[in-house]
Amino acid sequence: MSQSGLNHIWLPYTQMKTSTPPLKVSHTKGSHIYLCDGRVLIDGIASWWTACHGYNHPYIQQAAQKQLALMPHVMFGGLVHEPALKLAERLSNLLPGDLERVFFTDSGSVAVEVAMKMAMQYWINQNNRKKTKLLAFQGGYHGDTLATMSVCDPEEGMHHLFSGILPENYVVPLPTNHLACQNFENFLEHHHQEIAAILIEPLVQGAGGMLFHDPELLIYLRKQADRFSILLIFDEIFTGFGRTGSLFACQQANVTPDIITLSKALTGGTMALAATVARHHVFEKFLSDNAEHALMHGPTFMANPLACACANASLDLFEQTPYEEKVKNIEIQLKESLNPCRNFHNVKDVRVKGGIGVVELNSIDHLDDLKQLLLQQNVWIRPFRNIVYLTPAFTISQEELSQLTQAIVKVLYKDH
Ligand SMILES: Cc1ncc(COP(=O)(O)O)c(C=O)c1O
Repeated sequence: MSQSGLNHIWLPYTQMKTSTPPLKVSHTKGSHIYLCDGRVLIDGIASWWTACHGYNHPYIQQAAQKQLALMPHVMFGGLVHEPALKLAERLSNLLPGDLERVFFTDSGSVAVEVAMKMAMQYWINQNNRKKTKLLAFQGGYHGDTLATMSVCDPEEGMHHLFSGILPENYVVPLPTNHLACQNFENFLEHHHQEIAAILIEPLVQGAGGMLFHDPELLIYLRKQADRFSILLIFDEIFTGFGRTGSLFACQQANVTPDIITLSKALTGGTMALAATVARHHVFEKFLSDNAEHALMHGPTFMANPLACACANASLDLFEQTPYEEKVKNIEIQLKESLNPCRNFHNVKDVRVKGGIGVVELNSIDHLDDLKQLLLQQNVWIRPFRNIVYLTPAFTISQEELSQLTQAIVKVLYKDH
């Protein structure tokens, strides 16, 4: 592998002047990342929560190889293909209620952008041009494109750095107690005429800090959205496909949003693919004799057949394997084995939901040092802000998971 290539790569979320060089990976397998220097790391985060069945799953690989030989890509404008049709039908059968129209894109951020655009145009197509804003929540994360930044937590979305540039949306505290609910409802009383949709990551706000909330909050939001004629969007890009214990987080609240976004584990961590899925009543508002009422969006690689084939294979695996049991076992093990961290003086909270284990610290003073200490334990864990977390593949073995949790306990014990 080329060393000098590093001089031409621009890395994500990285201060390229001061950061330590990235690690070179030669290959992956199961829950293992093999580095070019011979080290083998146990992966604690499944490549940003995508590789839910572990790396290089032979069943997904076979499906990909078959599709690669047949047709890796064909444009989706005016043409369709079996992998996308099959996947759309399967997703609409798996999702609750009448979430039945699937718009494919190629990344989570774009799926959220499409959801935002859909929500705004839903009202425009009904001659309402006032409902142009989104209402999102502090602690939320929905992507890195400019529009999605504007609905992230202001700190996470770097609102200060881009102030005056980002679209103006509302980001408010989560209404999780009586007073916050009163404030929230007052806010809606004043602003509902401008709000196209409420946007939330159901049950777990991921990249904003792995913050959990109760299913009741989603029931409450559904009620308020209906009361004030506002659409409800669930961003399940992180929570979708088993991560919180059920296939979709919204199922734990028995709430059907008007629009849902999916990506990450959709293809089992193999190919870039995302979906924005709308309910019938949303789709209906785009049907018209007026050509302008159509959804004017169409990424070049949307519904990529290779990615759709991988997603179909991933859904087969969900059907064939008792993933709920696996996630439950991971949850039990995470709870038990991260528990000792509660006694460390810098630990603020330890929380676990499904396949997500979180140790929240009061602060992490030297994030890079902490990353290096974890690496010395031969684990791949990426703490951020004041959070050390695990989101392993559902196929991880008990021993491998123990190595991950022991590494966290050992390093936090020593370091804090
Ligand atoms: C809830 C949520 N929405 C949207 C995104 C953006 O997805 P992508 O990085 O594929 O653009 C992420 C990524 O972490 C996410 O967790």
